[in-house]
Formats: sequence, structure tokens, C-alpha cells
Amino acid sequence: MAVVAVYSSKGGVGKTTIASNLGWCAAELSARRTLLWDLDPADGAGFMFALEAQRKRQARSLFAGDVAAHALIEPTGVAGLDLLPADSSLRELDSMLLRMGQRHRIAALSKQLARNYDRLILDCPPVLNELSAQVMRAATLVIVPLPPSPLSARALGHVVEEIRRHTKRPPPILPVYSMIDRRRSLHLEALAANPAWPAIPMVSSLEQCAVQRRPVGTFAPRSPAALAFMRLWSGIERKLDLIAETASMPAPVGGH
Ligand SMILES: Nc1ncnc2c1ncn2[C@@H]1O[C@H](COP(=O)(O)OP(=O)(O)OP(=O)(O)O)[C@@H](O)[C@H]1O
Ligand SMILES: [Mg+2]
Repeated sequence: MAVVAVYSSKGGVGKTTIASNLGWCAAELSARRTLLWDLDPADGAGFMFALEAQRKRQARSLFAGDVAAHALIEPTGVAGLDLLPADSSLRELDSMLLRMGQRHRIAALSKQLARNYDRLILDCPPVLNELSAQVMRAATLVIVPLPPSPLSARALGHVVEEIRRHTKRPPPILPVYSMIDRRRSLHLEALAANPAWPAIPMVSSLEQCAVQRRPVGTFAPRSPAALAFMRLWSGIERKLDLIAETASMPAPVGGH
């Protein structure tokens, strides 16, 4: 099982759009049993799949151990893709995690969820606090969406710092340009500066995801955006394979 966190400390950079479309790619293209886990009280991932949380103000109870995940998880309508929805009770999640004093609560819940899922995709809120620190401790890979602007680059710096500060074994980070417009010279410069970073175009078909309330692959499967997500997902799968291989290699004996 792998935990792919879609995270930035900055709001409105495309986290929910990327997390929900990657969830679709994982289930539909890789036939992975996938859970999209919404950690943001704004409940954007549920909105993206036209779902209303069945049990109101219960999302927080999962973390306290008062409710089992299966009581909250809902099918999205996409085969192989379920949603663990957020609701407004998650506004108190950060302080609750601090009070509980369990630094690996999200990692422990992820392990439990791994019994039924191959891929967890985390849609994170734009925060830098105990919640984001716990996400970093749980993540196999962190995707950081970056609109090509100096402010986003700054946010990436914060994420890197945060990960180093809060985790003994930091997960790898994959920055992804999230709103690229190839007509703009600043965007082309950003692409040229970091050619290895994947890019998702700024296009109306992705805005449409929130209007149609389904992933782009379901209504515009051959669009540049859908193809960009397919490429991004296959790159992520390759990275996850590499990470798994490295983790299963025996530790060097008496290394210097
Ligand atoms: N590549 C894109 N092209 C066009 N519009 C996009 C793209 N990515 C995201 N958007 C739009 O930008 C807005 C913000 O996207 P989204 O909600 O995914 O960001 P977010 O980082 O999850 O925001 P928040 O921090 O509030 O949770 C939405 O209206 C979304 O439809
Ligand atoms: Mg969001």
C-alpha cells in the first residue's frame, strides 16, 4: 500500500483537483483499490464526486477511534474508488491531534486502511501544523501542486522545511506545476527551470470537473488535461515501485 499526499501550505493551488483526478487514475487506469481521503473540512473531494457525507460531523470521530472508517467510507460511483469524506468537524482536528499526543495517528489509521486499499490519496487542507506534520509522517510520496509563481515556490520551500523538521525519514516530494498556461512567458520560464517536474495545464476542462462533479477522464478522456493526468499518474506509479524496491532492499552490512 502507498500513501500519496497531495499537499501545500498554500490554498487554491489545485490540491483537490489533482487528488480527485489522481484517485480516478489509480482506480481506472491501474485497477488499484483506491481510497480518496479528504482531510480538509471544506469537503472539496466529496463535492468533486457529487457526494454528501451520510453521517454529519462524524469525520473527527475516526481519529479518536469512536467510529470505524468503514462506517464513513462511501463509494464514489467509479469502480475501485471510495471516498473517506471530510466535514466541518475536521476544523478541530489539529488541536485534537495535539491533545491526543499520538504523533503517528494518521499513519496508524493509514495502516488499518491498507487492509482494504492499495492506494490512499490524501487531499490535504492548506495548513502548516500538527495535521500536516502527521500527513508527512504517514506519506509514501508527497505531491506539491505549484502554480508557476514565486509565491508557490516559497510554499514549496515551506513544505520541504516542514518535512525535514517533523519526520526522521522524510518522504520524497514531487512538485507538480498545477496551472500551466504555455502562452505566458513566466510559465514557460518555470517549465524550463524545472523540466523534470510534471505539469498539468490550466484549462477549462479541469474547471469543469467541479461543475460536472466528476474527474476529467470520465467526460473528456482524450483532452490534454486527461492525458496530462495519465502521464502524471504513471510517473507516480513508477516512483512508488522504486520506493517499494528500495524499502525492501536489505540494509548494507557494516557500511561506511
Ligand atoms: N489546471 C487547472 N486549470 C483550470 N482550473 C483549475 C486547475 N486546477 C484547479 N483549477 C481551479 O482552481 C480552483 C482551485 O482548485 P482546487 O480547489 O483544486 O485547489 P485547492 O488547492 O484544493 O484549494 P484549497 O486550498 O481551497 O483546498 C478551482 O476553482 C479549480 O476548478
Ligand atoms: Mg482543496
